Amino acid sequence: MSSDNFLEVDGITVQFGGLTAVNQLSFNVKQGSIHALIGPNGAGKSTTFNCISRYYQPTAGRIRLQGQDISQLPPERMAGLGVARTFQNLELFGELSVRENVLLGCHSHSTKTLGGLLRRPNGETNDLVDSLIERVGLTSDRETRAKELDFGHQKLLEIARALALKPRLLLLDEPAAGLRNRDIESLDKLLTELVDKDGITVLLVEHVMQLVMSISHRITVMSFGQKIAEGTPDEVSKDERVIEAYLGKGTAHVS
Ligand SMILES: Nc1ncnc2c1ncn2[C@@H]1O[C@H](COP(=O)(O)OP(=O)(O)OP(=O)(O)O)[C@@H](O)[C@H]1O
Ligand SMILES: [Mg+2]
Repeated sequence: MSSDNFLEVDGITVQFGGLTAVNQLSFNVKQGSIHALIGPNGAGKSTTFNCISRYYQPTAGRIRLQGQDISQLPPERMAGLGVARTFQNLELFGELSVRENVLLGCHSHSTKTLGGLLRRPNGETNDLVDSLIERVGLTSDRETRAKELDFGHQKLLEIARALALKPRLLLLDEPAAGLRNRDIESLDKLLTELVDKDGITVLLVEHVMQLVMSISHRITVMSFGQKIAEGTPDEVSKDERVIEAYLGKGTAHVS
């Protein structure tokens, strides 16, 4: 397996009743890169994510991670394989603190029960949690309940929790939605660092084009369930089909 095929999405189709949400979609993600999946609303991006993280079962096609066919694995096996994700609609424990939410992300590589992990985390786990909280810029909110954070900071917390899994593949569904410009700049820096310093591979679904165009190595563009273009940010932003898909829908400008 070459590093070009770190993640292989090979001809997947997903149907919901009569609707084909994803239609014979194929793309490869290179190891150690930031790969963006973009497209107008309803294009099938989150559905594709849900197939990779195994929440949805494609009706056709294969998904491989470093050559291993993961198409039939249950979602709970993904953490053990080093795949972590965030959700478009947040999935945090609102009553728990920032620190406790990140701690729960450590569960996949801890020998403790969830309760034991929350009550008596060991020193190494505490250090990891604190470093992740610092990395996403939430140190001053360490003991704040997740539900009391604003939406943008909740998104950053979700990233910290996903990183607690020590992933090799990080799937981010619209991490910049709801973020202020300042936080988008921090996110840009954080994601670039995760790839450059930590060697994590990132698959990113995002509508904030400023972020996508600045950090992505490669972009796959979907419209109505199908891939309509793929290439570098420069190539994709000049592609007629991409411009038409966005302007035709009146959702966002690719620039
Ligand atoms: N669980 C589901 N049941 C039925 N239809 C669904 C389901 N999930 C998604 N869909 C439909 O599949 C299509 C693709 O949806 P998806 O959420 O993947 O789009 P998206 O590209 O993530 O859009 P957005 O940018 O708005 O998040 C849409 O028409 C959506 O309504
Ligand atoms: Mg979506």
